Amino acid sequence: MQRTKINDLLTSDSPLGPVLIKGWLRTRRDSKTFSFLEVNDGSCLANLQVVANDTLPNYEDLRKLTTGSALAVRGELVASAGKGQHWEVTASVVEILGMAPETYPLQKKRHTDEFLRSIAHLRPRTNKYGALFRIRADTAWAIHRFFRERGFRWLHSPIITASDCEGAGELFRVTTLPPGADGGPEAFAADFFGSRANLTVSGQLSAEMLALALGDVYTFGPTFRAENSNTRRHAAEFWMVEPEMAFCDLTGNMDLGEALIKEMARFVMEECAADLALFSRFVDPGLKTTLEGTIEKSFVRIPYAEAVTILQRSKQDFTFPVDYGRDLQTEHERYLTEVHFKAPVIVHDYPKEIKPFYMRVNDDGRTVAAMDVLVPVIGEIIGGSQREERLDVLEMRMKECNLDLAAYEWYLDSRRYGSVVHSGFGMGFERLLMMLTGVSNIRDVIPFPRTPGDIAF
Ligand code: 4AD
Ligand code: MG
Repeated sequence: MQRTKINDLLTSDSPLGPVLIKGWLRTRRDSKTFSFLEVNDGSCLANLQVVANDTLPNYEDLRKLTTGSALAVRGELVASAGKGQHWEVTASVVEILGMAPETYPLQKKRHTDEFLRSIAHLRPRTNKYGALFRIRADTAWAIHRFFRERGFRWLHSPIITASDCEGAGELFRVTTLPPGADGGPEAFAADFFGSRANLTVSGQLSAEMLALALGDVYTFGPTFRAENSNTRRHAAEFWMVEPEMAFCDLTGNMDLGEALIKEMARFVMEECAADLALFSRFVDPGLKTTLEGTIEKSFVRIPYAEAVTILQRSKQDFTFPVDYGRDLQTEHERYLTEVHFKAPVIVHDYPKEIKPFYMRVNDDGRTVAAMDVLVPVIGEIIGGSQREERLDVLEMRMKECNLDLAAYEWYLDSRRYGSVVHSGFGMGFERLLMMLTGVSNIRDVIPFPRTPGDIAF
């Protein structure tokens, strides 16, 4: 007999007759002649109520069942007389697949996020993290659907690269050399790739090459940054979604970013409603209002210079100073989105000194066609730009940024042969999930997070 998933079973319109379900026991309640077993199989938030009568041959064993034990239940799906569920299963067979002794750390009570991080291998079995990782998986799928509907092709950009796209030097090296043999060009020559190699910080440079061939493409995969900042919104390994569009300027780029975020908010509200309700209830009571605001309000679009003026006039006691030419900090981004505009904000046209080499220099010669999308609580969720398509200007910028032009000859070729206006951005997938669920720490939206000093699982 085929296993039925509890989600399919609970959403069915009519009794299915005999069913087989498999899952883990959440709670057991005994009465004189029968027990209620609440079983969860991870297909949805809801448990299935199983009625085990004392006529079952192994009933004595069932009365010793502990939370976390794995079960296979055969029985009849019937309308439930109890409150809170339409259906329940009257068991004809309850097979114990694996007992979980009393040392099982997830006994029925609320646990702190900090404690659950210390048992990251078991936390998916809690309601909250089960819901979270279902939303994570479904949202990833919705991102692919979003792009596919708009004719974008998914590109698999390499994970091992020789370039530093962002120029921030936050690279993890990839090497087969023994410890101590690093440094110097001679050492790299003996290394696996014959030159310095690192984990990618962004798939953008590859995406640009494919966009200039296929038109509209996107990458969606893991990226790595050895940023030593132990914050709530930085991970050393995170996933990024990076669309890149040929024949598209900064305005088209902003339009796509806004449409993507709005669609993701709509998606979770409509298509992950049961799981999302848990986050509205236990994590962030304002979540629904925030998501509705994200869907309904137009994102504010302001130049960086104007954002600086607003922040300077705000009379706020910021920890970091606000000066034209300095990058915005999370506290500034939050002031703009939460206090001043009460909406997502796209800040564009940043001074070139605080942005990477590839962004298009504006006519003023001082700013570049950059855009950062900021949302309440999280701050920056998207960073992107129109790209510098003029070979001479790009070479000049690369020299200003002390890049080795010889290593980027292949990239410069794209400006030599049929160069066109093009744009793209990167959206941090985990930051998106934080926005969608109200979860305030990036460690709690990644199954096995990697942060400085922490790689236990
Ligand atoms: O602003 P960033 O650095 O932009 C780029 O990497 C561009 N090459 C993207 C592009 O134009 N194709 O990063 C993009 C986004 C950020 O806005 C943020 O959401 C996320 O990636 N991000 C991080 N997320 C988690 N942990 C980190 N350490 C992150 N660093 C960036
Ligand atoms: Mg950025």
